[in-house]
Amino acid sequence: MRRPLLRFAAAAALLSVGSAGSACWPGNPCPASTPCCSQYGQCGVGAYCLGGCDPQSSYDLQSCTAKPVCKSENYKLTSLDDVVSNTEYLGDASTANWVSSGTVVPYAGDSLLLTLAQGTVGTLLMSTHYVWYGKISATMSTSQGQGVVTAFILMSDVKDEIDWEFVGADVDIAQSNFYWQGVTEYTNGFNISTTDTWQNSHTYTFDWQPDYMSWAIDGVVGRTVYKNETFNTTDNKYHYPQTPARVQLSLWPAGLPTNGQGTIDWAGGLIDWSSPYMQNGYYYAVVEEVSVECYSPPSSVEQNGNQAYYYTNSEGLQSDVAIGNNKTILGSLFASGDDPDYNPDKTASGAQATQQTVPGLNGIGNQGLQGQTGAESAAAPSASSDFVQGNESSSKASTVVAGSIVALLGFVAAALML
Ligand SMILES: *[C@@H]1O[C@H](CO)[C@@H](O)[C@H](O)[C@H]1NC(C)=O
Ligand SMILES: *[C@@H]1O[C@H](CO)[C@@H](O)[C@H](O)[C@H]1NC(C)=O
Ligand SMILES: *[C@@H]1O[C@H](CO)[C@@H](O)[C@H](O)[C@H]1NC(C)=O
Ligand SMILES: *[C@@H]1O[C@H](CO)[C@@H](O)[C@H](O)[C@H]1NC(C)=O
Ligand SMILES: *[C@@H]1O[C@H](CO)[C@@H](O)[C@H](O)[C@H]1NC(C)=O
Repeated sequence: MRRPLLRFAAAAALLSVGSAGSACWPGNPCPASTPCCSQYGQCGVGAYCLGGCDPQSSYDLQSCTAKPVCKSENYKLTSLDDVVSNTEYLGDASTANWVSSGTVVPYAGDSLLLTLAQGTVGTLLMSTHYVWYGKISATMSTSQGQGVVTAFILMSDVKDEIDWEFVGADVDIAQSNFYWQGVTEYTNGFNISTTDTWQNSHTYTFDWQPDYMSWAIDGVVGRTVYKNETFNTTDNKYHYPQTPARVQLSLWPAGLPTNGQGTIDWAGGLIDWSSPYMQNGYYYAVVEEVSVECYSPPSSVEQNGNQAYYYTNSEGLQSDVAIGNNKTILGSLFASGDDPDYNPDKTASGAQATQQTVPGLNGIGNQGLQGQTGAESAAAPSASSDFVQGNESSSKASTVVAGSIVALLGFVAAALML
């Protein structure tokens, strides 16, 4: 099976009308003018340089801002107070613990819904702090229905990944998986049986240690993988997730006719958009709480501060990450790690107008100049009229929806390139 990120990309392709951003990948880094390679493989500035910015494909090792270090906390996800749109976030993790893309809806005062309406690519919720080994749990119930996938994953900027994935066609199984630097290895998946993930709220846990990782449901370990079992004799490297990662929760449409048949089959078939499992016009997953217990970084780490992780080498291994007091905040959506305080005059035009500032937002540059939220008026794809379905839920979410859905189009170029 293809990696989750790329399957998500395929879903987004439905809504694509192409993208102006130049593509980047390891070996083809971004130019100095748009130095940051987003999680989706496109060059830009601003949010491109924050969470997910890929140091292996960016202009230089300073282009991506350094990343806020792990913070141990139990996050009660009960309102949008701690959630900021990816079109507004500038890297200050002290202002919000979560960044969203899509429509997040507060529910019953004790949880958040990740929603998936027809014509959208669903919702992503990403932590602003990174984790570099730790015990991470999410208490949640999944969506149900064929073609609909709920995910709780750890994803690093060099695409190390540890996953829980829940296919809505089979709510008695939690699928575990992992990746190293995005390399697809078909033997990494493993199913763990549980009881109805839609009806029951379960606590899903990653125990991610430098030398092993385990997956547990309600405290019962269902799988353990040791680092020493992941040694790859082709490149003599451990294909083990080993770099700082963000916590990501998502709900996305794998069962779209535009997706690959393998993806559709994996997800249990095409999505039924008039399903009894929908409410208020959308599928939903319910997230109640995420807890993060940070472990110590590897003892060999180069440490000259305690605020932020940064890469010292584009090889992207554990030994290529250091901890410093680097600034993680950008001065504007036109700044990058190479020029973090850059904040052009709001009336300026010119070069900035062609820069991309939030992954996937085509030609958003000048909108960014007009207040740096820009999303609502972003160059909308042809399917944009469908997006408003998602905005009925809450006023904050409604300002998010147009831009964030467009933002997800960044997946598309990545999917085509990889
Ligand atoms: C972080 O700070 C260190 C110095 O402490 C510096 O060498 C490194 O280039 C900085 N990296 C980033 C991404 O800011
Ligand atoms: C996990 O279960 C699903 C059915 O729900 C199946 O399609 C998939 O192949 C299984 N994966 C593994 C690794 O056994
Ligand atoms: C990996 O390490 C574990 C724990 O140290 C040990 O029990 C196991 O035998 C090792 N496996 C391999 C393949 O070396
Ligand atoms: C070893 O790594 C290469 C890519 O670096 C990959 O193509 C191959 O599948 C890996 N081998 C195993 C046994 O996982
Ligand atoms: C969604 O937002 C659009 C534009 O802001 C508005 O015209 C539309 O009525 C809204 N839809 C719902 C269902 O609230």
